[in-house]
Amino acid sequence: MYRLIYKSRSPSAIDWDTVRNILHTSEQHNKEDQLSGVLLASRTHFMQVIEGPFENVNSTFMRIVKDPRHNDIQLVSFGIIDARIFTDWAMRGIGIFDLNKDLEDRLIEKYGEEDGGLHFPLEEWMALAMIHDINMISDLPEWKQ
Ligand SMILES: Cc1cc2nc3c(=O)[nH]c(=O)nc-3n(C[C@H](O)[C@H](O)[C@H](O)COP(=O)(O)O)c2cc1C
Repeated sequence: MYRLIYKSRSPSAIDWDTVRNILHTSEQHNKEDQLSGVLLASRTHFMQVIEGPFENVNSTFMRIVKDPRHNDIQLVSFGIIDARIFTDWAMRGIGIFDLNKDLEDRLIEKYGEEDGGLHFPLEEWMALAMIHDINMISDLPEWKQ
């Protein structure tokens, strides 16, 4: 089992339509490929975690990097894991831009600010810590298939 994390930038402001469209086309692929994970979106950036079998994580990432809906893609990590963080075969979509101001401010205080929103870190340990923190929040603004 493998986990890949990357960060990218969106050429236009991200909203729920952007997240919905991306995850709508991903749903069937990810189920077939036994992939799980999360797509975090600020107004300007994405950070995605993809977990699953080596070949499937690899080929999905190869498709994703060619997608014109984002650019400036930076690989944060790709490595072997003991267990999934996200146990369902699905991709959670979380709109950080819709977090309540108080929570967003606290995350920004801890992880920094970028283009007026939460900064997605490039260090794996920090990315995982941030994802863990976000996972602990109940009532997340999220889109689920
Ligand atoms: C930020 C972002 C995340 C994406 N995540 C996934 C994903 O998890 N799985 C997937 O199959 N496609 C994902 N895509 C879409 C792919 O880039 C690609 O458009 C899609 O897989 C092509 O599907 P199709 O060949 O059936 O049209 C993502 C695209 C973007 C911009």
